[in-house]
Amino acid sequence: MTTNLTNNKLAERDFKRLSQFISSECGIKVPPSKRTMIESRLQRRLRTLSMGDYKEYCDYLFSLKGMEIEMPHLLDAVTTNTTHFFREPKHFDYLYDNVLPDWFERFGPSKELVVWSAGCSSGEEPYTLAMVLTEFAEHNPGFSFVVVATDINNQVLEKAQLAIYPEDKVSQIPPLLRRKYLLRSKNKANKVVRVIPELRSKVRFRRLNFMGEFGFREPLDIIFCRNVMIYFDRPVQENLLRKFINHLHPKGYIFIGHSESLSGMDLGLKQSAPTIYQKAG
Ligand SMILES: C[S@@+](CC[C@H](N)C(=O)[O-])C[C@H]1O[C@@H](n2cnc3c(N)ncnc32)[C@H](O)[C@@H]1O
Repeated sequence: MTTNLTNNKLAERDFKRLSQFISSECGIKVPPSKRTMIESRLQRRLRTLSMGDYKEYCDYLFSLKGMEIEMPHLLDAVTTNTTHFFREPKHFDYLYDNVLPDWFERFGPSKELVVWSAGCSSGEEPYTLAMVLTEFAEHNPGFSFVVVATDINNQVLEKAQLAIYPEDKVSQIPPLLRRKYLLRSKNKANKVVRVIPELRSKVRFRRLNFMGEFGFREPLDIIFCRNVMIYFDRPVQENLLRKFINHLHPKGYIFIGHSESLSGMDLGLKQSAPTIYQKAG
């Protein structure tokens, strides 16, 4: 068995079965233009499994054993997980200045606010949310919240739960919040920070594939699903949004990424600000 992959190419038939499988399993579209990207992302899996070519890999993946053992690794390999703290910062301003006061006026201390970071990647988005919500709680006694954070990718979820980040990845966090919510490593040579335990305890991580059941028992107040749907086809996006809306409280909010759009979809949502939508009351 050889591990020299230099001349190894993904055959048309294998690319087709992989791309169909990926889009039916997790919604991610894989057009022919993504073939080289898929090849390069799967190279590490081939190396790990000591497999000589993509055909061997596909035959294994599509076997009974492969479907069980290899499928989660395939999904880890094909998802794109780019993220950072305070990404698209206007969302967090709007949340703090408009959504939270409106919500707290309606519910007061009688209810815990539930926010879902849907497609949370390595945790930067849910921890940003937890910082903003904690700040709001400090100025509004009686306000309480929980952030539910989910992703399909096991590797990013492990990182998210560890909550350790390189120092140069936290520069977008305002300095005051950085000092309040992050701990530096005691070892000065180790240039990493960790989210403080009090903030970590406000975020609950779990694996969730949008293509399956969500499994929430209670309706949610706010959903952040940003920079996820751009990887899906329009009908998949629309289906997913309908599922989100079914799980949302009346007057609940959905935040989507700035490069995503709901135009042309008849979802019964009211636009509150660019890329921020509210369900009818
Ligand atoms: C580009 S990241 C966005 C992270 C964060 N929301 C942000 O805006 O910075 C997209 C995330 O969606 C996740 N994802 C892709 N397909 C998914 C699916 N079918 N179910 C759940 N999560 C999925 C990926 O694993 C990835 O971590």
